[in-house]
Amino acid sequence: MRKTLLAPSLLAADPLNLAGGVESLRNNYDWLHLDIMDGHFVRNMSFGVDTAAALCKKLPDSFIDVHLMIDRLEVILPLFIKVKPSLITIHAETEYHLLHASLMQIKNAGIKCGIALCPATPVRNIESVLNLADLVLIMSVTPGLGGQKFIDNSLDKVRELVSLREVNKFSYLIEIDGGVNDNNIVDIAKAGCDVIVAGSAVFNNDDPGEWLAKVKEALIF
Ligand code: DX5
Ligand code: ZN
Repeated sequence: MRKTLLAPSLLAADPLNLAGGVESLRNNYDWLHLDIMDGHFVRNMSFGVDTAAALCKKLPDSFIDVHLMIDRLEVILPLFIKVKPSLITIHAETEYHLLHASLMQIKNAGIKCGIALCPATPVRNIESVLNLADLVLIMSVTPGLGGQKFIDNSLDKVRELVSLREVNKFSYLIEIDGGVNDNNIVDIAKAGCDVIVAGSAVFNNDDPGEWLAKVKEALIF
């Protein structure tokens, strides 16, 4: 039996009551996904280092999944490494020349490292660093905003990553992020995703905890 992990994205929670947002999940989450946007790599701003630090401090037993949508990796990445979340994912499209070094920087700090791909970026662009990755995040919307429509051919990349992992004996998890809803979540899991991020589908719900519990049942196959 495969287990698909659910990672609610706090971007869709009430920004004035993040603690309440986490409580509303009633422990029915596997990971907590935190989107960091710098207003430069993406045209939006979200949480910063302090929020990541507060979350890690308040929930030391939770798996904190930090998704950096930022430029200036050399300056900003060390700040997040200091916070020691469970996982830090960086985009392949930001400062590509630093990708290998940045992944090593995260790994050497004892933190799991992930590589994220925007919808237009092919998997082949990261083939030479897949051996380093603990996770590959496939963006199924253009990064920057919650509540967008799922881009269907994102699942082709998931299938490609599943087969590359098998052929090369890699060990990364495959995560999907963006546009997940009740209608597509089962197909996403069946395509081979190990971790599913969901923002609006979780928090636009009257009972986020119940939604997660219900979806968890539906993903057992
Ligand atoms: C988008 C973010 C996502 C976002 C997903 O740039 O990376 O994590 O929260 O939101 P939904 O699930 O609403 O598409
Ligand atoms: Zn994200």
